[in-house]
Amino acid sequence: MSRQRARTRAGMRKAWAGRLAGRTAPLVEAFTTSLPVDRALYPHDIAGSVAHVRALVRARLLTRAEGARLERGLGSVRRELERGQFRFHAADEDIHMAVERRLTELIGPLGGKLHTGRSRNDQVALDVRLWLRAECEAMDATLKGLQRALLKLARRHENSLLPGYTHLQRAQPILLAHHLLAYREMLARDRGRFRDCRERADELPLGAGALAGAGFALDRPFVARQLGFARVTANSIDAVADRDAAAEFLAAAAITMVHLSRLGEEIVLWASEEFGFVELPDAFATGSSMMPQKKNPDVAELVRGRTGRVIGALVALLTTLKGLPLAYNRDLQEDKPVLFDAARTLREAAAVLTAMVPKLAFRTKRMAAAADGLLLATDVADVLVERGVPFREAHHAVGALVREAESRGVALSALPIDAYRAVHAAFGDDVLAVFDFARSAAARRVAGATGPEAVREQLALASRCLNIQN
Ligand code: ARG
Repeated sequence: MSRQRARTRAGMRKAWAGRLAGRTAPLVEAFTTSLPVDRALYPHDIAGSVAHVRALVRARLLTRAEGARLERGLGSVRRELERGQFRFHAADEDIHMAVERRLTELIGPLGGKLHTGRSRNDQVALDVRLWLRAECEAMDATLKGLQRALLKLARRHENSLLPGYTHLQRAQPILLAHHLLAYREMLARDRGRFRDCRERADELPLGAGALAGAGFALDRPFVARQLGFARVTANSIDAVADRDAAAEFLAAAAITMVHLSRLGEEIVLWASEEFGFVELPDAFATGSSMMPQKKNPDVAELVRGRTGRVIGALVALLTTLKGLPLAYNRDLQEDKPVLFDAARTLREAAAVLTAMVPKLAFRTKRMAAAADGLLLATDVADVLVERGVPFREAHHAVGALVREAESRGVALSALPIDAYRAVHAAFGDDVLAVFDFARSAAARRVAGATGPEAVREQLALASRCLNIQN
């Protein structure tokens, strides 16, 4: 047998073949493997191994020449993975074993020194943190993109009036810009949550070993610097048992997805015949296979529909964690399918909304018409308040007025002044001037309100945050 083939055979031996002489049942291999999922971690896994090799050299556990050969070998493995030339084996079990197996095939028994002072437990904890850090950054950019799209749309609708709703009943007139900027705020908080998550994930777990800490004097701060970590974890047991950063990521993702879902829901409502506030762009709508007249908001519906998956991911991980004794348990392997799926789902949902939002054509006339006179009932009450009437009394009077208008089948603004006087003596002739939406909006000038001035301030602030020039 050639040396090469003997090496390959040796490389395929299970890491624990010393302890377990019998072969693993193929059913068990298939059941326990995480390779189909965690192969996505390979760039992080290899980066972590390179930093570990350098620490081994520094600790004189490897010579410089050995370290260089290991690094070169890891580089070759990375290139094979990048090019899709890497051949996984059924026995590889996970990405960590696959990389080490291939490394050993390429450079020989020296590959067996890579795992000195390391366990897959601290290795996988490291990979997950590296992934989380990168994903939090990518998520920030994705959500910022959606904020920009919303802001640009808001700037086109600084003067578009529509009814604002509470209990899905028309409540008060608002500006569409104001409504859209509400989503910008939600996304700003979401971005903050991903930043917090990144900050707490920013600790190096490598060096924790299986759970008790590495048995060699590895310079952990040195490794942390190599990988750009702010700190090293303080407790080796916690370091391998902890998946808090993953849970935080999923919590942030679930909350963000709930926000996107609410936006999706509003798009569905607004695109309905009943509301008719928005016309969906053809490229973002679907037809019906049966009813020729249909134009369906499937994109918005699927954003709403996929939210369950992301919430489910959070619940799945927390459920996995809740019964686990310290420290590492194989259950923890279940963190990755939910993390990866939730991240992909959220990013895709945000991306499709970012593309669709600028193309939403609002029917501003119809929106304004829906903001009819009844929406100014609060303003009518405010007229009395300005004359010293207690708000409760004013509210009562205007309530009676609305009932009167309803029984006569006319708009509030169409009631004669006598009807106003009948409910409250303090009403003067000037009350009808209230029925001016511009005036109503203009009165709402406190910070954060729907008045044009306050909205302009919000727009300016948002533009500054998102670096959008005027
Ligand atoms: N595939 C495992 C995971 O994702 C890696 C760690 C396995 N460690 C072990 N002792 N079995 O969690």
